[in-house]
Amino acid sequence: QVLVTDLTMDTGVQELLVKAELENIETAFQRAKEQEPHCKFGLTGVCCRRCLQGPCRVTFNGNKGVKRGVCGATADQIVARNLLSLIVEGTTPHVEHAREILHTLLETAEGKAPYEIKGKEKLISIGKKLGLTVDGVELDKLAKEVALIALQDFQQQSGVSNWLRLRAQDQSIETWKKLNILPSNAHLEIANAINKTAMGCESDPVSLLLGIMKMGLVEGYDGLHLSTDLQDILFGTPRLVKTQYRMGVIKEEYVNIAVHGHIPMVSEKVLEWSRKLNNEAKALGAKGINIVGICCSANELLMRQGVSVATNYASQELAIITGALEAMVVDAQCIMPGLAQVAECYHTELISALPNIKIEGASHVDWTPEDADKMGEEIVRRALAHYPERDQSKVQIPAGTVEAYAGFSVEQIVELLATLNGQDPLLPLIEAIATGDILGVVAIVGCTNPKVKQDWANTEVAKELMRNNVLIVASGCSAHSLGKNGLLSPDGLQYCGEKLANVLTAIGQANGLPALPPALHMGSCVDNSRIDDLLVALGDRMGVAVRELPVAGSSPENHSPKALSIGTFFIAQGVDVHIGVNAPITGSPLVEQALTANKGEFPVTTDELFGGKLIYEADPIQAAQTMIGRIIQKRKALGLVC
Ligand code: SF4
Ligand code: FE2
Repeated sequence: QVLVTDLTMDTGVQELLVKAELENIETAFQRAKEQEPHCKFGLTGVCCRRCLQGPCRVTFNGNKGVKRGVCGATADQIVARNLLSLIVEGTTPHVEHAREILHTLLETAEGKAPYEIKGKEKLISIGKKLGLTVDGVELDKLAKEVALIALQDFQQQSGVSNWLRLRAQDQSIETWKKLNILPSNAHLEIANAINKTAMGCESDPVSLLLGIMKMGLVEGYDGLHLSTDLQDILFGTPRLVKTQYRMGVIKEEYVNIAVHGHIPMVSEKVLEWSRKLNNEAKALGAKGINIVGICCSANELLMRQGVSVATNYASQELAIITGALEAMVVDAQCIMPGLAQVAECYHTELISALPNIKIEGASHVDWTPEDADKMGEEIVRRALAHYPERDQSKVQIPAGTVEAYAGFSVEQIVELLATLNGQDPLLPLIEAIATGDILGVVAIVGCTNPKVKQDWANTEVAKELMRNNVLIVASGCSAHSLGKNGLLSPDGLQYCGEKLANVLTAIGQANGLPALPPALHMGSCVDNSRIDDLLVALGDRMGVAVRELPVAGSSPENHSPKALSIGTFFIAQGVDVHIGVNAPITGSPLVEQALTANKGEFPVTTDELFGGKLIYEADPIQAAQTMIGRIIQKRKALGLVC
């Protein structure tokens, strides 16, 4: 008998899991149990399905079983190929995301799409960094020039990615140049990587591993950074906002629309039209239209508009089980196909919006940059039409919300610090790191995964780090875990070590707040770029390489290949990355050692080449302690107080 309290920390989700069971509705939590035990060949990465001579399964423990596939491929080769393939699958959605925002910006600049350039300052700062003339140039013209330079990162056949040159630290570029892994064009690199992994192509595991690191750079610059930068130009750079978390943000007296996925061009338009048509909801007897977020669509609207967050990845189906959603709009990434089956049990219309991403069982309203308004209006009108169909007997919204702060872009963090030192805003932060008041900085990022009790590992890692005076920055669904559990609010200071609490209180009070929260919510998964920007800014100001900084990244409940490609990007910067759910690499001693530097037999490790390694640890407290150990090691190397 599985107890709902073992599946999730979120009491609202627990309540809805009970409701789901009573109504005989299946969810991911239940399906995860049905998949146990998982296939060991799959878990360790030694199952190959790359051609029709197979599938082949080779030994995953080095002694028992078949050692080579039909073609002669070894476990090292199969695992390395599979991992590269997985990292490509993590990178590609972010590259597509970047391409979509790029075209939206271009069409907006050309007057063809109904968006406006709200991030004037960001546009000018990026224009300057790209070497463009900005003085006296019209915003539209400048935006078009910026978009066309971004487009080169999908077209040029040689040279180095423009966005990498724009955002990377010089020391890192040197390292990557020596290893010959500088990418030029995101599409070309993805095609090249798929070609490497194709049957009968690359079989040198070391070269495949370098291919993985190169893909991490594609992810980082032409996925994450490009998406964030252009989104900030179009929708504005996030600033401090206060919002609410948990299922209780769904409001019974309102027409409720959940936005789920990742693409703000869709969710921003739905929000805009919900405001325009709010009175029509009142005419139906509702108090208005209430937009709530799930996954990173939530993060995008939360960061820029203060929209509240219903839930994160693993419990997306449960939002529908409240019986109070008139529509759920989905675009891309992390959309469970199982949503359609759940929506069928209610009046909720599941609506997909991206032309290339259709969901079986969902209706579809096409988003294109030009027709964005048509899409926004149509979706909101459909939700309004469903409100009278709501079956009150099926409505059950778990009570209670939690307050949270978000909107911590680098620009916002610098502005907050500037109240302490207007001339040199980063200095107070650097001084706090130097004295050990802040031991280090760890980014808690990524997902929730029904293999792990929802939100538990994310919050446990965070609390253990805070207790040891480590400042947390957060993004993605992990940030939602922290938000639901009060760690994005000044109330979370109760979990901090005294020194960290004092620093956060001082910065907060200088800005008219009781304190800063112990975890700074920096945005969606693509906004891991903001975390990277913060590291580069700190490194540059301190005169050291990012790889030398006392920092780490952690994804305690990773489920998506995107978490692995983002992690690869940070390892390439020289940042250690912890994952709580193991990647399929343990079938190959070579790949495992190269990434984790654990056993020391394999001569080339990412730790030696880049300064960062993979830490796999399922126990959150142990994981936090391992990261702290490494932070102390890096502090010692810098001569900082330990
Ligand atoms: Fe088997 Fe080789 Fe084909 Fe993979 S590529 S399925 S190992 S024969
Ligand atoms: Fe995400």
